[in-house]
Amino acid sequence: VEPPAAAAVPQAGDPALVLLRRIGTVDPASLDDYRSTGGYTALRHAFKLGPAGVIREVLDAGLVGRGGAAFPTGRKWQATAQQADGPHYLVCNADESEPGTFKDRVLMEGDPYALVEAMTIAGYAVGARQGYIYLRGEYPRAYERLDHALRGARTRGLLGPDVLGQGYAFDIEIRRGAGAYICGEETAIFNSIEGQRGEPRSKPPFPVEKGLFGKPTAVNNVETLVNVLPILERGAVAYAATGTETSTGTKLFCVSGQVDRPGVYELPFGASLRELLDLAGPPERLRAVLLGGAAGGFVRPDELDVPLTFEGTRAAGTTLGSGVVLVLDDSVELPRILLRIAEFFRDESCGQCVPCRVGTVRQEEALHRIVDRTGAAAAQDIALMREVGQAMRDASICGLGQTAWNAVESAIDRLGVYR
Ligand code: NAI
Ligand code: SF4
Repeated sequence: VEPPAAAAVPQAGDPALVLLRRIGTVDPASLDDYRSTGGYTALRHAFKLGPAGVIREVLDAGLVGRGGAAFPTGRKWQATAQQADGPHYLVCNADESEPGTFKDRVLMEGDPYALVEAMTIAGYAVGARQGYIYLRGEYPRAYERLDHALRGARTRGLLGPDVLGQGYAFDIEIRRGAGAYICGEETAIFNSIEGQRGEPRSKPPFPVEKGLFGKPTAVNNVETLVNVLPILERGAVAYAATGTETSTGTKLFCVSGQVDRPGVYELPFGASLRELLDLAGPPERLRAVLLGGAAGGFVRPDELDVPLTFEGTRAAGTTLGSGVVLVLDDSVELPRILLRIAEFFRDESCGQCVPCRVGTVRQEEALHRIVDRTGAAAAQDIALMREVGQAMRDASICGLGQTAWNAVESAIDRLGVYR
């Protein structure tokens, strides 16, 4: 459920904002606005630190990936930079397609120069001369604004053969997706950029070793990259003072569904789900909250004190994922929502491996039978879905198949949906 753009940034102007601080307050087309609000101080500092110094800061800050998997960014950059075989590449994963996710869109549309500056720093750290933004095809405004920002940065010597006169050559190209969810999987992005079918590759080897064009590649989500700016502007220690020990900094949450004020909210890691819902205006009779999107899990109304951290949501049996918070009241028909999720995975499976290609079909069929019986589940349908779900989790090549049963399993085990 995508909220209207006007509701996307309910807290604009709040001094506590870090990632959203410019959204709605500067002209996204103006490089002068960007610079007058601190833009390009982080890149200047990066040149003083040198590539290894930048990576050290990102490691010390404890930054982990915001695309959903929370892998340590500094380790990824270090592993990429250490590869002897070049050229090295940087890819920004901007194919934001998880149902209920729209935070990267807000960043790219509202503060495009921030992504350009952050990518320049990341490219410098990993030793890349070429970066790619793999942009969701359905984001035309983000494309226009990023394209404008890239041109502006080139004109002012902030991209090109000699960035800021520091002898570092770097440029960025935008590649637009064409509507396939699977093309947001990092190795499917490589295939898509290379002109092949957008299908995931087996990992390992990880992209840090063999990525785009078979070369060492750092792939980072938009929000992850934009976090590098406050790390370099404020220092790793100050950055890590916000949040918890293992989830440092702030996080963007995409709140949608039955709330009064849907939109993108920025909160320090460790705030509770209850605090977030209070900001968004919860429904009177809450049924459940889906965290982490279609690949995530449900939280019950009696669990709203769960801390919004990677470790806290994991301990509560769900996942923070990329920050989806889908709020459902008791008027929803959960069996139909689960069927919709299953249809989505069946439709978006690339079909390359059997457990996912067949499993997503069997799962959808079972959920259809349940909905046809107006929500009552036969024991054999539940047993079949458990068996198929486990096979998908264990034997699928990529995250799509591995997580296609998560939400349904969570609804059965945590919400007792078919009782
Ligand atoms: P993953 O856990 O396989 O990998 C995460 C990152 O760490 C990748 O960049 C991977 O290359 C890197 N990595 C992992 N182990 C490594 C190692 N030993 N050495 C070097 N690098 C290593 O997760 P994956 O499949 O990349 O992403 C899954 C997540 O994506 C899920 O949590 C899901 O929520 C999220 N997702 C987000 C979407 C969005 O629109 N933001 C859409 C779909 C899924
Ligand atoms: Fe394709 Fe599904 Fe296999 Fe991923 S798990 S490679 S989406 S068939």
